[in-house]
Amino acid sequence: MSQTLSRLVREAADAVPITCVTRESWPGIEAALPAPQAAYARATDFSPKAGCLALLPDAEGRVAAVLFGLGDGADPLLAGKLPGLLPPGTYRFSPTQNSDVQNSDVQGSELRGFDVQGATLAWLLGSYRFGRYRAAGAERPALAVSESVDAEAVTRIAEAVARGRDLVNTPANDLGPAEIEAAIRAVADRHGAAVTVVTGEDLARDFPLVHVVGASSPRAPRLIDLTWGPVDAPRVTLVGKGVAFDTGGLDIKPSSAMLLMKKDMGGSAAALAAAEMVMGSGLNLRLRLIIPAVENAVSGTAFRPGDVIRSRAGLTVEIGNTDAEGRLILADALALADAEKPDLLIDFATLTGAARTALGPDLPAFFTEDEALAQSVAEAGAAVADPVWRLPLHKPYASLLDSKIADLNNVSGGPFAGAITAALFLRRFAPATRAHVHFDLYGWNPSTKPGRPEGGEVQTARLVHALLSRRYPRA
Ligand code: BES
Ligand code: MN
Ligand code: ZN
Repeated sequence: MSQTLSRLVREAADAVPITCVTRESWPGIEAALPAPQAAYARATDFSPKAGCLALLPDAEGRVAAVLFGLGDGADPLLAGKLPGLLPPGTYRFSPTQNSDVQNSDVQGSELRGFDVQGATLAWLLGSYRFGRYRAAGAERPALAVSESVDAEAVTRIAEAVARGRDLVNTPANDLGPAEIEAAIRAVADRHGAAVTVVTGEDLARDFPLVHVVGASSPRAPRLIDLTWGPVDAPRVTLVGKGVAFDTGGLDIKPSSAMLLMKKDMGGSAAALAAAEMVMGSGLNLRLRLIIPAVENAVSGTAFRPGDVIRSRAGLTVEIGNTDAEGRLILADALALADAEKPDLLIDFATLTGAARTALGPDLPAFFTEDEALAQSVAEAGAAVADPVWRLPLHKPYASLLDSKIADLNNVSGGPFAGAITAALFLRRFAPATRAHVHFDLYGWNPSTKPGRPEGGEVQTARLVHALLSRRYPRA
């Protein structure tokens, strides 16, 4: 982990201070700078616009201070740019920027709200690199943090995100169902969680949809079930789509659509990252993590369009398209989760291209029937810069999934409302749990943005951790 993230250090004697400035606070801060530094900032065209950087020299030409523009202060992850911009060395966020401003007449409310803890997290999230297949790159800047920052909490979150991103970035030749299981066991071991795994004949009998999707691959499918925490605490169950690679099956994807399908286990990575955050911060809940892990391959043992499978829940499903495999494996996992009527059920899945068409790669869709829960989800996402957008579980569209020979089809015949029909399909398998949130996410940053390096991303994990921290705080 030390290789994928930049370092946080405690001692800060000679750390270079970084002053973050908004358009509003800059005039006051500029006026308080030593004259040569103010002149240097002007001469090098520094401005408080978002992402603008100035390295201010001392008389010996060493970097004495850093100015960093926050623009209007709207992007809470902007400090995530810094590890990529700064030369090696040790830095700290300047605490003086707050007092300076409070003592001047520019009492910018945004600046007084400058959130050092949030900026520290953004820094770590932005420092991530996927290092598995390359020699370590150039040394990265380190960040010294003061006592006011809960470095442990921030590190815990950033490391869980980094491990999740590593899983998404790891290509399918090195990450099949067995490796997903190993990754879950490694997290479980660190936190004293119990893990059971169902495979083989047991899987075929008890989780027929997981079995049938995974039967196309020589890498055995499995249902991974982790539990942690006191049995009498509120029960929270996380379910994640773990498709190690999605060829589409016999309804094979064109090459352009298949290219990125190593990320089709992004839901399981997000669920595992959220679980790791929950266990690490010792929340007062009984956690269950259920991951169906399969490879959706093409072979003589692959399931076919037109097959009818009796699911764990007893509903028969006609296969309209083998590329709608995620909802199939989730259906059996949700049926297992629903049987114990959890207090809260959350599933995570790279489920539909339609959700991306609607909202783009950066904004996962979420679905729930529970209005109060919907409000909490949206608020938690906004609070930790892990944004989501609600789409409706429009009941009349359920008939789009009608089958002529089975209880339901796994796809709708038409081109409309693909993310909604997928969500409605899932709801059929968790009828006893109203407090159910379904996240349809992309799991990938198509290009680098502050705090979000290009590549695998564990969308909604930090949101869920924030939501659960509020509901079930550590006792
Ligand atoms: N894993 C894909 C969905 C996906 C595609 C997510 C691209 C993110 C980016 C899923 O298994 C799938 O193939 N869904 C199909 C469903 C269709 C056959 C009803 C889709 O969205 O095209
Ligand atoms: Mn698919
Ligand atoms: Zn898929």
